[in-house]
Amino acid sequence: MKILIATDKPFAKIAVDGIRKEIENAGYELALLEKYTEKQQLLDAIADANAVIIRSDIIDAEVLAAAKQLKIVVRAGAGYDNVDLDAATQAGVCVMNTPGQNSNAVAELALGLAVYAVRNLYNGSSGTELLGKKLGIHAYGNVGRNVARIAKGFGMEVYAYDPFLTAEAIEKEGVKALSSAEELYSTCNMVSLHIPATAETKNSINYTLLNKLPKGGLLINTARKEVINEAELLQLFADRTDFKYVSDVMPSAHAELAEKYADRYFSTPKKMGAQTAEANINAGIAAAKQIVDFLKNGNEKFRVNNK
Ligand code: 3PG
Repeated sequence: MKILIATDKPFAKIAVDGIRKEIENAGYELALLEKYTEKQQLLDAIADANAVIIRSDIIDAEVLAAAKQLKIVVRAGAGYDNVDLDAATQAGVCVMNTPGQNSNAVAELALGLAVYAVRNLYNGSSGTELLGKKLGIHAYGNVGRNVARIAKGFGMEVYAYDPFLTAEAIEKEGVKALSSAEELYSTCNMVSLHIPATAETKNSINYTLLNKLPKGGLLINTARKEVINEAELLQLFADRTDFKYVSDVMPSAHAELAEKYADRYFSTPKKMGAQTAEANINAGIAAAKQIVDFLKNGNEKFRVNNK
């Protein structure tokens, strides 16, 4: 059995070593494709792989068609919008993610971006503090929970909106549950996005919603660029000189935003949220274990596509 790690953005070496140990201990062979620049390299590398570990790497119908021996794709991370689930189902390939494994890393970065924003992108001018401010968590999943925990350490008042959770489930963790996204944005000084990119959420963060943020409102996006309606984001930037946006998922309109609003807009050049040794080890080794358990025992616990 050949297990491929295909990562445009490589894991830390210590994580690759850990994955190799899991794979080789199971009697399988590990192949590594990192920092590839052409899709053809992935098509070639995956041709004889039985399993693949990926990050935000695109697994579309063309890749699946080239992967004649493939049985399983594990996205070492949370969001699997980069995998064509229907095409995988049609090809008889199981798709899994590794929920929760990199969520502390992403949450730490979200709060780091918040500090950077309220201190005026470290430009030397007098900023504000997080203490006593209201933070809204948009979707209270694994990352949202970690953001809440860290934000409480800053002395923030933490609110959350999650359409898939009851108020009781959120409030038992000392976070105030709100009943709509509109309420979250109008209540909080800043909102941290933790929604996945799905057909329902794409473009859902629009002008009307963002304009509910009070004066000095801040949006922190460590989720996906696709959830933002970028045309309306640009309009909001033009209309509200107090609005700030910090992102770990570079917008398509990055060049325009950086040129016009450099004093209140920032994006990391490459998604950094899950890029820590700890997150790489947690997600990478979980992915390797899930592959071994699937191939040896048929365990499909973390499967995300239909059969
Ligand atoms: C995730 O969905 O797990 C995060 O967005 C991290 O993505 P990455 O593995 O591409 O850094």
